[in-house]
Amino acid sequence: MKIETLFNNSDSVLRFLPSRRDFLKNMSLSVALLWGFGLGGIESWFEKIANRPTRRPVNPDSTDSMTTVEIYEEAINLMKALPSSDGRSWDNQAGIHGTILGGFNRCNHQNSFFLPWHRAYLYYFEKICQKLTGESSFGLPYWNWTRPFVFRPGVNSSSSIPSPFWDTSSALYYSDRDATSSDVPPFDVVSQSRMETILDETNFLLFGSDDSGGAGPLEAGPHNTIHNFVGGTMGTGGAALDPIFWTHHCMIDYCWDNWNINRGHDNPNDETWLDQEWTDFVDEDGNSVKMSVRTTLLMPLLAYQYESSQIGAPAALFPLRSEAAFRRLRQRLERGAQVRLAIKKRIPFSRGMDLSTSKIASRELPVKARELKRLFETEHPDRALINIGFASMPKATNFFVRVFVNKQDTTMETKTEDIHYAGSFAFFGSSQAEIHQHKSASFLVDITNTLKNLRQKGMLKDDDTISLSFVAVPVTPSRVVKEEILQLEKLDLLLSPISVSERQ
Ligand code: C2O
Repeated sequence: MKIETLFNNSDSVLRFLPSRRDFLKNMSLSVALLWGFGLGGIESWFEKIANRPTRRPVNPDSTDSMTTVEIYEEAINLMKALPSSDGRSWDNQAGIHGTILGGFNRCNHQNSFFLPWHRAYLYYFEKICQKLTGESSFGLPYWNWTRPFVFRPGVNSSSSIPSPFWDTSSALYYSDRDATSSDVPPFDVVSQSRMETILDETNFLLFGSDDSGGAGPLEAGPHNTIHNFVGGTMGTGGAALDPIFWTHHCMIDYCWDNWNINRGHDNPNDETWLDQEWTDFVDEDGNSVKMSVRTTLLMPLLAYQYESSQIGAPAALFPLRSEAAFRRLRQRLERGAQVRLAIKKRIPFSRGMDLSTSKIASRELPVKARELKRLFETEHPDRALINIGFASMPKATNFFVRVFVNKQDTTMETKTEDIHYAGSFAFFGSSQAEIHQHKSASFLVDITNTLKNLRQKGMLKDDDTISLSFVAVPVTPSRVVKEEILQLEKLDLLLSPISVSERQ
């Protein structure tokens, strides 16, 4: 499908048409939409794109970064001053996502729209900030939680909530947080080596999230865990009331950008997915707008760019140095790939069982390693995923859960460097309202590499059965996990030939 035909129903684009015909001959409508042009001449379009707003990491030691943070603060004050009848007001913007007591509202979680929906949400929020402050080149700041602002080689630490967000006289401050200014998020969930594993995934549905499987490693791990680490309102549907929310989601979007653009992995080209449209947002003038998944996929190319900061292993930079480079990238983004997560086999663990948050829970699968031999093939090997579904949300969500494979003697202290470690997940949301909206809290944990490593080391023999251990760990050591029984709704092993097609 031609990009020009995508926007036939979109008022926000059509209003550009009459006066800009020449421009549009050279450019797609998507550019017009995202870039919101109007001032410059036709000849400078490439320059304008090259100079699109930059989203910078929050770094108290950098002047550019702090200028961005100041504009962000000013924007929050201006949004708070708007009347409640204005869709751009601070509370209304947060309300699109959800409310503290009412749970989630329009946001998408645990499905393949998790990334594009939150991208669109940030996009309009950023536009509103630009308009209200008059700073047209403003880009949202992002909180890179993988590492401290000033990185000291050899020091393993994630990043605390940046200091400007603790200034009680600033609009960036929010009193309802459980984290303190010196707490740092759990290192093993957000570290660069963990992020590298997550960013290395080629299949979008396993990188982001899948409609039937639930939250993938990015959402279930760093995303949910950071919500709970900040805690308070950030752990509820009303999360966007805390100014740190937008910098957290900007980081999540940066992860997607890095995965897609720098690392060259492709988004799905499924037409139904691309055509998904939302009317949840308002533009910078407060008018309601339509946004489609298809358009969100071009946003990092047209509407903003990220100032890089390391999140996994260093990835190639992607400066748009020429029109040709721009066209090539645009073509790749528009083409996408055929992405599938076909479940070949679903092996249920025992049903109707419970997990306690205060004991190590271990479960054995009725399957022997020899039945998984397709995993260990070199040509098109299968992948093994654990699909975990809970019937209800825990009352407290101040913990995350580490998953180990075939480690009978797992303890609270078992390190994630252990060869048996597979991944982790955390619950996001606080009320029953939230679980009802999600139907169930559901996660996908990929155990393929763990099984392969065990096999290679001779620690997984043909006759061995597969078992899983779950360890609930507090998001910071000072926040004690209360004993609670979590009712499992499903615990299945999925075997899947993960496929991402060759580009057509
Ligand atoms: Cu819809 Cu991080 O939240």
